[in-house]
Amino acid sequence: MTSTLITNIGELSTSDPDQRVLTNAAVVLEGERISWIGPAAGAPAADTVHDAEGRAGLPGWVDSHTHLVFAGDRTAEFEARMAGAEYRAGGIAVTTEATRAAGDYELTRLLLGRTAEAASGGTTYLETKTGYGLDVEHEARSARIAAGVVDEVTYLGAHLVPAGIDADAYTALVCGPMLDAVRPYVQWADVFCERGAFTPDQSRAVLTACRDAGLGLRVHGNQLGPGEGTALAVEFGAASVDHVNHLSDADIDALASSWSGWDPSGWDPAHAAEAGGEGHAGQAAAPGRGTVATCLPACDLSTRQPFPPARRLLDAGVQLALASNCNPGTSYTTSMAFCVTTAVLQMGLSVQEAVRAATYGGALSLGCEAGTDADGRRAVGSLAVGHRADLQLLNAPSATHLAYRPGIPLTGAVWRAGVRLS
Ligand code: NIG
Repeated sequence: MTSTLITNIGELSTSDPDQRVLTNAAVVLEGERISWIGPAAGAPAADTVHDAEGRAGLPGWVDSHTHLVFAGDRTAEFEARMAGAEYRAGGIAVTTEATRAAGDYELTRLLLGRTAEAASGGTTYLETKTGYGLDVEHEARSARIAAGVVDEVTYLGAHLVPAGIDADAYTALVCGPMLDAVRPYVQWADVFCERGAFTPDQSRAVLTACRDAGLGLRVHGNQLGPGEGTALAVEFGAASVDHVNHLSDADIDALASSWSGWDPSGWDPAHAAEAGGEGHAGQAAAPGRGTVATCLPACDLSTRQPFPPARRLLDAGVQLALASNCNPGTSYTTSMAFCVTTAVLQMGLSVQEAVRAATYGGALSLGCEAGTDADGRRAVGSLAVGHRADLQLLNAPSATHLAYRPGIPLTGAVWRAGVRLS
């Protein structure tokens, strides 16, 4: 197995549970894994050596919320919004029409272009959702195409009720034939619980059916106004509730309580499997594991929503993730660095808190922050011996430059599973 020593790393942000930041550090990659981390002066020999020349290193970004399987363009809607129009869930229908009209080859080509763009910006682990098919045939096609390209696929048949269909009849389709058709390709299910999308009762039906089908759960909640999305996510033991712009004190308390018995060092997905836990649903149900609050700052800027109360959530003990929410309607960017910058400049997070949320936090929300599974996909989002060798070097001496030099593409070199991507 080939080994690579990356040495002279000026500052190494590990995003490990102790949030260690090492100076003058080195990392050894052996095959797909990290085999050594420590002071550069004590590093073992390796087959090849990469001199980081004092640059900063950190884990590859884990982007835990994207909608990348789509065709078409919504520039006109964006322009209208910038001129004062409100974001409405109904815009999803425009993308659905374009996505249904695109062939498999075209959809795959578009998806590959977006994942390549994400990787060049330092993203090494990606979730994406269906949700622009909205009938059995096209949801299953989106799931199949996504499963061939990204790390984790989420079923979002419950994104919008298509025009001309009764909402309860559509919900029944999402919970029945559509779920059966996507099931072979997806690990997760999500529901857009919001005014103009799915009511709490419809959301509850979707979450129940998808949980019973063995899927891990996620919820789009409290994006456009106060509502029951977050409470439902906690009630169902969802791995993540995403957006969280309009939270009540009770929502924050519920999220914090969901983490009250959690010990980050005391649990390993391999044990969940031994105990009969199945896939992600087993992981999400691990003792003490709560619901991650996933913030999507690029979306908040593009929709002019208030930022989520990230500082309050962290201070209350809630685990936080940052994700791009790349989609054509509300957040057409794959840049996790932009999300980190915004979280620091606008949401009151420190650089290390934002980096942790964009790496470890995303992994935690996808149940892949610790341990290994048979296919070796586990343990991303932090730098530790045995973890997948996903890391990036910045063209800067410290992670602080991500916020200090906003808008500058700082990602210099990226390794994914030990392979140098750029
Ligand atoms: O996460 N909120 C729902 N879904 C997307 C928007 C999708 C769209 O408008 O196309 C989001 O912001």
